[in-house]
Amino acid sequence: MSQYGHPPYWSSRYSTSPTPFEWYQNYTGIRAHIHTHLKPSHKVLQVGGGNSEVAESMHGDGYHDLTTVDISPIVIEQMLERTARLTPSLTWLVMDVTSLEFPDESFDAVFDKGLLDTVLAGDRGAADAGKFLTGVSRILRPGGCYFCVSCGVLEETLPLLQNQDYSWTVEVVPVPKPRASEDKVKTPPAGGKGGEDCHYIYVCKTGGHDDEG
Ligand SMILES: C[S@@+](CC[C@H](N)C(=O)[O-])C[C@H]1O[C@@H](n2cnc3c(N)ncnc32)[C@H](O)[C@@H]1O
Repeated sequence: MSQYGHPPYWSSRYSTSPTPFEWYQNYTGIRAHIHTHLKPSHKVLQVGGGNSEVAESMHGDGYHDLTTVDISPIVIEQMLERTARLTPSLTWLVMDVTSLEFPDESFDAVFDKGLLDTVLAGDRGAADAGKFLTGVSRILRPGGCYFCVSCGVLEETLPLLQNQDYSWTVEVVPVPKPRASEDKVKTPPAGGKGGEDCHYIYVCKTGGHDDEG
């Protein structure tokens, strides 16, 4: 699985497979949880969006301020073309999440499906995950939420998120893995083993007030 931690793998993959592909969970499997913690009025950053259909699905549900970053210029170009009709609600940027180039406290929520696992699979996994999570902590506003869908081992992932530097309160929500027969969903993990029958959503809330209640 270590190839997932190497950015060239992704550009090579997207240049040969431009068809939409969902890692772990499709939108239906996590939609209710997204709606519980992220509001349509929120300014949301999706990290490592790949060619997932989540941004388009969220847009269809009323989320109209959604920025996605990915390290692969190829997939960002493909997504710009695929979602041109949704401009300016959806924004696509090439960016390395270990160096998030956004101002402090500039997002209400960060959505991650498979990105943290991917970073952890790299050669500098722990160090890069630390840089990424420190960046997330910096760009989230008080009362903000880091929503992370992971295939990683609970006992290994949870301590990373409970790092006292971030002061997040972390809720763990198991979600059943889709049946293997469901098409377009990649069940095996990018970077971890996950639970036997479930993925985990980590809902990490920053301190401070959620203005929207
Ligand atoms: C496992 S895929 C998940 C894709 C999508 N979120 C999904 O759920 O289907 C991981 C994605 O993270 C991107 N990625 C890997 N390392 C990255 C980095 N350092 N910065 C930004 N994106 C990265 C890859 O290009 C890939 O699109």
